[in-house]
Amino acid sequence: MTKKQGNSTRCVHAGDTHDAATGGVMPAIHQSTTFAYPAMREKPEHIYTRESNPTRDAFERALTELEGGSRTLAFASGMAASTAVLELLTPGDHIIGPANVYGGSFNMLRVAGEGRFEVSYVHQNEGPPALRAAWRKNTRLVWMETPSNPLMHITDLKALSELCAANGALSCVDSTLATPLATRPLALGVDISMHSITKYIAGHSDVLGGTLTVSDSDLAGRLMQVRNRTGGVLAPLDSYLALRGLKTMELRVRRQFSNASRVAEELQAHGKVAQVHYPGLADHPQHALADKQMDGFGAIVSFHLHGDENAPERLLNALDLFTIAESLGGVESLAGFPPLMSHATMTPEARRAAGITGNLVRLSCGIEDAADLVTDLLQALEQV
Ligand SMILES: Cc1ncc(COP(=O)(O)O)c(C=O)c1O
Repeated sequence: MTKKQGNSTRCVHAGDTHDAATGGVMPAIHQSTTFAYPAMREKPEHIYTRESNPTRDAFERALTELEGGSRTLAFASGMAASTAVLELLTPGDHIIGPANVYGGSFNMLRVAGEGRFEVSYVHQNEGPPALRAAWRKNTRLVWMETPSNPLMHITDLKALSELCAANGALSCVDSTLATPLATRPLALGVDISMHSITKYIAGHSDVLGGTLTVSDSDLAGRLMQVRNRTGGVLAPLDSYLALRGLKTMELRVRRQFSNASRVAEELQAHGKVAQVHYPGLADHPQHALADKQMDGFGAIVSFHLHGDENAPERLLNALDLFTIAESLGGVESLAGFPPLMSHATMTPEARRAAGITGNLVRLSCGIEDAADLVTDLLQALEQV
């Protein structure tokens, strides 16, 4: 595949996923868990589905190409993928995580820090000085998330991954909110690019999955051993659905990004809104970095409302088109209150440190018409 091709072409054709046996333009869904040896000492290409499976391979090949890596490993959820990264470490190692991070990832790091590893949290959007201040001689992993969930902080992947490489630590970024189209972490020097494919890649709120993509073949081999040992693999049917989603990702994500941008502007101009967190806005503290590092600014918009503590509840209950639900990234627009939903597993102190305080609402913009989303928000804001 040549570099000149556009993102839509790349999404449709990445990985050459035709079914070689039949010419099917989509691969077959190979539900088989085990594959026949031609003879006792002759191994087949696939042996056992926990290790590899033709349908999962097709999806992994496609995402590897979009991410510009050498190998992708698909897992049964985003959290299974993230947890596999921690399995690369040795007890006693130090991990630096982001202060503002998806609640489930915070919980993963918090529990990992109870006896197994040392964990500290840094406002990574403050760049290398903040990371250097937290560095210890046993720092072996820097876990990043950009844009961060839910406050849309942007982390400088190039600067932080350089610091990691120079000091002997792995760099891993949860790139879920960026999507493989807006940011290419591996090209910026990051060792591991992680996605919850539950979100934009599968894209229809009907698949749970996660991926790790790497450039380095030794690292791929170590992660492969972890996945084979821990067993949290993406199932064949879900692999097929994820591949189907990936083929339309560009169309969906472009619309979602442009809807988010319109929604952010409308909210910023509204008297009942105190502050909007969206990196596409000129006054976002890392707008320039987002502009440099990303192609587009994401489809999550979070904002603080004026008013009493019940303002978010009044807004959410008044929304019609936006569904109140966990998760993000699907074709339908969703609205949530992070302290009770996506970030409920964070301790109140950690939420305060992250800035997840007060009347914060998070929107995941879908592919509906922008005008309809704005109309819905404006009528709901009237009722706050
Ligand atoms: C940024 C981010 N990373 C990781 C996850 C976890 O992914 P999964 O739910 O697929 O395990 C989520 C889930 O909401 C998320 O928002």
